[in-house]
Amino acid sequence: ADLRREGLYVVTTRAARFFQDSMWTSQEGQTIGLGYYKERGFRDEVLKKFELGYSPDSWDAFITKALQEGFNEKILEDAGLAIRNDKGKLYDRFRGRVLFPIHSFTGRIIGFGGRTLKTDKKVPKYVNSPESEIYHKSDVLYGLYFAKKAIRDADNCYLVEGYADVLSVHQAGIENVVASSGTSLTTAQIRLIGRFTKNITILYDGDPAGIKASLRGLDMILEEGLNVRVVLFPDGHDPDSYVRKLGSSEFKNYIEKNQKDFILYKTTILLKYAGTDPIKKAGVIREVVESIAKIPDSIKASVFIRECSTLMQIDERALITELNKLKQGKY
Ligand code: UTP
Ligand code: MN
Ligand code: MN
Ligand code: MN
Ligand code: MN
Repeated sequence: ADLRREGLYVVTTRAARFFQDSMWTSQEGQTIGLGYYKERGFRDEVLKKFELGYSPDSWDAFITKALQEGFNEKILEDAGLAIRNDKGKLYDRFRGRVLFPIHSFTGRIIGFGGRTLKTDKKVPKYVNSPESEIYHKSDVLYGLYFAKKAIRDADNCYLVEGYADVLSVHQAGIENVVASSGTSLTTAQIRLIGRFTKNITILYDGDPAGIKASLRGLDMILEEGLNVRVVLFPDGHDPDSYVRKLGSSEFKNYIEKNQKDFILYKTTILLKYAGTDPIKKAGVIREVVESIAKIPDSIKASVFIRECSTLMQIDERALITELNKLKQGKY
């Protein structure tokens, strides 16, 4: 089994080199692939560091090369690089896409995310490698290998949604950034971050989906006993688009100024929808206490109860009663 895993690493590594060569040395790759990244503002340095590439717009460019070199069909399929059609014919999974290799946190390539260059809404924006013996999506954070030292140094980890967000934020000089790309955030991913820091700052997209995911994410992070802050971006922006709009130093300022602890964040978000309706306001308070109830450390929880009480101008004892009810329901 270990040998099989080794074989998979060899072929994903080979593929990453093929996609890089295709981008940097072929005419098609330079014009289309590299051209695309450049247009988005990615610099050579970050493209090389993250080993980004381009898969030629062909049904079999990679597999032909790989088969010639002696890789067998099975390993290409197992690694998720090739797909077999109904007639049993093998073809490339990634065709005419810019590719983001996904590294394990020890730096080995385990899969790929491939972005289409088309604006056609009918094609999926991203095609990702399927699960394999070396790639378990729910256990992987995109960019962690390049971020872990910075995460330790800063004692904080920025969590974004997408590949491009990681690259842009990293390029802006904020290197302690990872994405849960391709899945919604998992407990395993939070624990993985927890090996490097106990502090996470969520930087999700400023759209309804991103906001919803941030509320779910912050509860999961609290449940794991980590500290969480959230930055809300203007609607329609994600960290990648916003750092390009503001430039790195303004972007850093924005994050500094707009990061909120989870109570303030959740209250702000929920009150936006609740308005001044007192019944709805009570609902907001209850939801915030629900998040506090997830914190395993009861001293920490009581600090947040106090903050909530001050912020919402609610008697602290009422909040504690509510908290205890929730806790009893839980156990
Ligand atoms: P987004 O739709 O926010 O894409 O999805 P993005 O990262 O901002 O992409 P750009 O800027 O348009 O290039 C966030 C992440 O969700 C995953 C990808 O990991 C993506 O980066 N995703 C999204 C998929 O896996 N498949 C999809 O079809 C869309
Ligand atoms: Mn798995
Ligand atoms: Mn989005
Ligand atoms: Mn996005
Ligand atoms: Mn984006």
